Amino acid sequence: MAEYNRKDHLYNKAKAEGFRSRAAYKLAELDDKYKIIKPGFKILDLGCWPGGWIQVAAPRVGAQGAVVGIDLVELEPFDEFPQVKLLVGDARDESNQAQMRSLAGGAFDAVLSDMSPKLTGIKEADQAGTVACAELAAYIAEQMLRKGGTLVMKVFKGNETEQFIRTLRPRYEKLTRTELDSSRNTSKEFYVTALGYKGSGPAT
Ligand SMILES: C[S@@+](CC[C@H](N)C(=O)[O-])C[C@H]1O[C@@H](n2cnc3c(N)ncnc32)[C@H](O)[C@@H]1O
Repeated sequence: MAEYNRKDHLYNKAKAEGFRSRAAYKLAELDDKYKIIKPGFKILDLGCWPGGWIQVAAPRVGAQGAVVGIDLVELEPFDEFPQVKLLVGDARDESNQAQMRSLAGGAFDAVLSDMSPKLTGIKEADQAGTVACAELAAYIAEQMLRKGGTLVMKVFKGNETEQFIRTLRPRYEKLTRTELDSSRNTSKEFYVTALGYKGSGPAT
């Protein structure tokens, strides 16, 4: 079954079209809907390996923009996109966060997170792990987004996720949830797009 899912329609399409992952279609779908990425923008991509989102974001920001990506796993370089800067390591580390900031040379217009932990199949553990990734993305966004900026995060359905989304609500003008056509049918994932960061600083 897992083998079947891995080699699904979008997996094959991504391969044929030169995308490094089927995830590329998810960011394209989100951006087409919410217009998150504009020419000249600075984008932070948390959990960017193998690089499908970067392949979508880099041409959309163009040569005047920047895409800073970080993952625990090292990516193959993007020689075709000099605006892409890659970091290898844990997004939780303060030293890596300082590097994200300095590579961008200013506040980010959008923080994108497709981070997810290694799933165990144990429902409670996986739910806690995925909420921790989303909390980390929200924390980093508060350190690095410009006022009016956008945060996009992958989350998984569950009570803890609902609680987390409630904490986020006052800090953005508008929160939307999107279940993507390009997510697997069996997936419990959805994406939260938080538009219009109010710049109110870290939660207390
Ligand atoms: C679903 S993949 C991302 C796919 C990617 N968006 C793409 O388009 O190819 C999730 C990634 O999150 C990364 N990740 C999870 N926790 C992380 C952390 N604390 N710091 C950096 N990367 C992390 C994992 O290593 C994994 O590669």
